[in-house]
Amino acid sequence: MGDTKIVSEPILFISDVHCQYELINAQITHAESLTGTPVSDVIVLGDFGFFEPVLRKYFRRDKHVFQRPTRFIEGNHEDYHDLAVYADAYADCLIHLPRGTVTAIGGYRFLCLGGTAYMDAMMTPEAAEIHDMDIDRCLQRDALSIDIIITHDCPSGIGVPNTPGFEMYGEPGFPRSRELSDRFHPVFWVFGHHHKWFDTEQDGTRYLGLPESWNGYGLLYPGFEWRSVSHPIGKPLGFWEKFRKLFLGEQKL
Ligand SMILES: [Fe+2]
Repeated sequence: MGDTKIVSEPILFISDVHCQYELINAQITHAESLTGTPVSDVIVLGDFGFFEPVLRKYFRRDKHVFQRPTRFIEGNHEDYHDLAVYADAYADCLIHLPRGTVTAIGGYRFLCLGGTAYMDAMMTPEAAEIHDMDIDRCLQRDALSIDIIITHDCPSGIGVPNTPGFEMYGEPGFPRSRELSDRFHPVFWVFGHHHKWFDTEQDGTRYLGLPESWNGYGLLYPGFEWRSVSHPIGKPLGFWEKFRKLFLGEQKL
């Protein structure tokens, strides 16, 4: 017998877009070609690059649309000053999932927590930092109401290795993350930010880390079936993309 064929429509997880919005459709197209199945939804795990000039150019001026319904949590490279305003203004293009909210997608219940642990003032604008009130808001949720936690940063204490050159920030992960796993015992916890694949199991939870959007994505099928797809796009950057990456969106993490 061959491999079991998965026929249900998966949710596509992608992270760290850093203003290169076109990579989302590129990876959707790849996933649908690879699997022969439409993607039902897309979840961006932060560092989307939520900056109004880039949003306006991509969605309004050039009239692009995402091929599938797309939602995002925020990372540390977004415009936090106007996030709520522009999240509302561009809600016809993509949906923001605020911290501490629970959203149902594809039969799963997701607890959403954007932001990161503090690194430095450049890498972590004050509003990007995960604060106690964010954790407390999450902890108010019913203990049995969550299947999957989605975060930009990783939880601490699960063995995510540091990125070379970032050792000065200490062990990867954000404070009090353990309180979330202890309360909710999620089946999955999926994150980005660290720009590398990661997959481990601890105390009944599978922790999955995604690389940058241009290096791959994850697919989640019914029954907690996960598939990591490495797909480097390696797209050369034009002038404005370099400008965006340098000044609007991309640092290393
Ligand atoms: Fe990040």
